[in-house]
Amino acid sequence: MKGVVLAGGLGTRLYPLTFVSNKHLLPVYNKPMIFYPIETLVKAGITEVLIVTSGPHVGHFLGVLKNGKELGLKHVEYAYQEKPDGGIADALSLAESFADNDNLAVILGDNTTDADISESVKNFKEGALIFLKEVDDVNRFGVPVFDKDDPQKIIAIEEKPDKPKSNMAVTGLYFYDNKVFDIIKNLKPSGRGELEISDVNNAYVKEGKLKWSKLDGYWNDAGTFRSLYNAGRYWAEKNE
Ligand code: DAU
Repeated sequence: MKGVVLAGGLGTRLYPLTFVSNKHLLPVYNKPMIFYPIETLVKAGITEVLIVTSGPHVGHFLGVLKNGKELGLKHVEYAYQEKPDGGIADALSLAESFADNDNLAVILGDNTTDADISESVKNFKEGALIFLKEVDDVNRFGVPVFDKDDPQKIIAIEEKPDKPKSNMAVTGLYFYDNKVFDIIKNLKPSGRGELEISDVNNAYVKEGKLKWSKLDGYWNDAGTFRSLYNAGRYWAEKNE
């Protein structure tokens, strides 16, 4: 399995911090934010990684990550997303030739977790696997709708719903087989003009190919000031 870290977007929710650099290079305690998702992949044995990025500060990534060796990567590639806010699925579409028919573990560059996903990596064969986590502020996220008759079965994913139907957030960690690229080619932009990752997951739901697992451990999406602060605090306490 290969890894993809999505680090595009403009990080507008973190202006003025993101006027000067890319969101994913901001510090979370003692490391740039993007080190955490890369380390999650490396810990699970994934050492071939594509970084998708965009925006005015793309050059900074090379300076920080270099050839990836210091982080345990054997091979790192970079892709440039032309429309920086084209959406998570648009960013993922750039991974097609890198994937070269292999399965992919995709992780959002602003997600930090101490979960060990090695077993899931070993067991994944086809379709899609998403990871869920119970949170208090679930309407900030993709939220699953479970079947009333079969509470283990997801029948849809709603993106940032006003009235969430569960307290589980879809975390920014996804496993896909290579059918994901055909799915993305058929997507239409959402109301906010993005190709949504939740629409990709809904396409797998329709085919009966979406599985889920609970993410064990700490998880945070550091995309807002409060969550960036919380992530820094968590990692400081864990490491001190
Ligand atoms: O963190 C988990 C959540 O991430 C999921 O629950 C949601 O379903 C999913 O849509 C996403 O929501 P966000 O609102 O947090 O997404 P955001 O726009 O902040 O983008 C998250 C990361 O994805 C960002 O740090 C970099 C990458 N990204 C995003 C966009 C819009 C790209 O690489 N390119 C893009 O065009």
